Amino acid sequence: MNRTSVVTLILALACAMGTAVGAMAQTAPAKAADAGVQSANIFSLAPDANTDPKYADQTNGERAKVQPGNNAPIWRQVGAGVNGYSSLPASEAPEAGNLIQPFVQYPGSKLTNAGEAWRQVRNNWIIPYGGSLLLIVMLAIALFYYTKGTMNLHGAETGRKIERFTPLERAAHWTNASAFVALTLSGVVMAYGKFFIQPVIGNTLFGWLSFVLKNVHNFAGPLFAVSLLIVIVTFVRDNLPSSGDLTWLLKGGGLLSGQEVPSHRFNAGEKVVFWLGVLGLGLIVVASGLVLDKLVPGLIYERSTMQIANMVHGVATVLMMVMFMGHIYMGTLGMQGAYSAMREGYVDETWAKEHHELWYNDVKAGKIPAQRSELPGASASANSISPSAQA
Ligand code: HEM
Repeated sequence: MNRTSVVTLILALACAMGTAVGAMAQTAPAKAADAGVQSANIFSLAPDANTDPKYADQTNGERAKVQPGNNAPIWRQVGAGVNGYSSLPASEAPEAGNLIQPFVQYPGSKLTNAGEAWRQVRNNWIIPYGGSLLLIVMLAIALFYYTKGTMNLHGAETGRKIERFTPLERAAHWTNASAFVALTLSGVVMAYGKFFIQPVIGNTLFGWLSFVLKNVHNFAGPLFAVSLLIVIVTFVRDNLPSSGDLTWLLKGGGLLSGQEVPSHRFNAGEKVVFWLGVLGLGLIVVASGLVLDKLVPGLIYERSTMQIANMVHGVATVLMMVMFMGHIYMGTLGMQGAYSAMREGYVDETWAKEHHELWYNDVKAGKIPAQRSELPGASASANSISPSAQA
């Protein structure tokens, strides 16, 4: 074979190969189109599949045979709260296999999946009725103040003082009260701010405000919890029921008649606030708050845990705020001399006699020392102390 023949042969082979490759390239897409997804429309595949009497009971596998791509059975199960499979460890992600929670009916909600049931309780009950209750009580207190005014002392002050709260009692009280105020303000803005602050300051500022207050709330919570326990231990003894409490309650303390009913160191109204507000609601608020902060060790934090904790926290905090509005009113505007007793620790003998006569009698009889905390230069057994001794 000469050189010309070899070149001709090579060119012929190259042409033949080129033609073959071109033909392949042209037929490939056509074949892919034939073998690919034929149709996503399940109705065009089996328009009469749902006439089968067992259609509604089909598993996803059975449905795939008559209507490929129709996954309704599996989504129906997902919507009903059935657990699927997840390879994530249950200890770290206990609900990873569950997209939509099972059905429940909380008080005030319809029978629906737990997330929606929680939303209904919160948005249809706790927020509107809780907010209304806060406003109604605020208004009632304002009206009471407007009609009755401050309870002033009737007699003249003697200048002789009795120690009503020791420095430790005051420190515990004010730490707790400061945390309470921080929690109340931040909590109210988080729950109701979108109704009365967001429309005024706009989304961006309100976003920042909520973020800051959420952190204030999360840090003030544990401070409130610890100081609440100290307050409970500090004040429990003098809040134990005693003679005269029932009479005090039946006569409403004489608040409306102006004739105060004699009481020991704390009257029955204060005792109700202590047992129901401080101890009862306080512990519920703290326990549910610690769950929401994920600070309770060993608890499995599922969505339902947080939803229930949130509802309990919401109801208990509203009731606690309402109770403490009354307490704060009586401790500031409502009664002359009450606030300075908690700020400085001392009350005048006239104040003690008019508001807590049985306690005053015990002090005068020497059963309770007039000065309980260490005070240099003053005798702890004296049954009243002069103002100079406090300096
Ligand atoms: C700004 C908020 C508060 C103010 C202005 C305030 C004011 C007062 C005042 C003036 C007293 C003395 C009453 C008396 O001499 O009989 C008092 C007592 C007391 N406060 Fe508060 N308080 C506040 C918040 C709180 C909070 C949040 C708690 C607990 C959760 C609390 C628990 C107590 C207790 C246990 C007593 C002793 C009387 C009793 O046991 O009922 N206070 N408070």
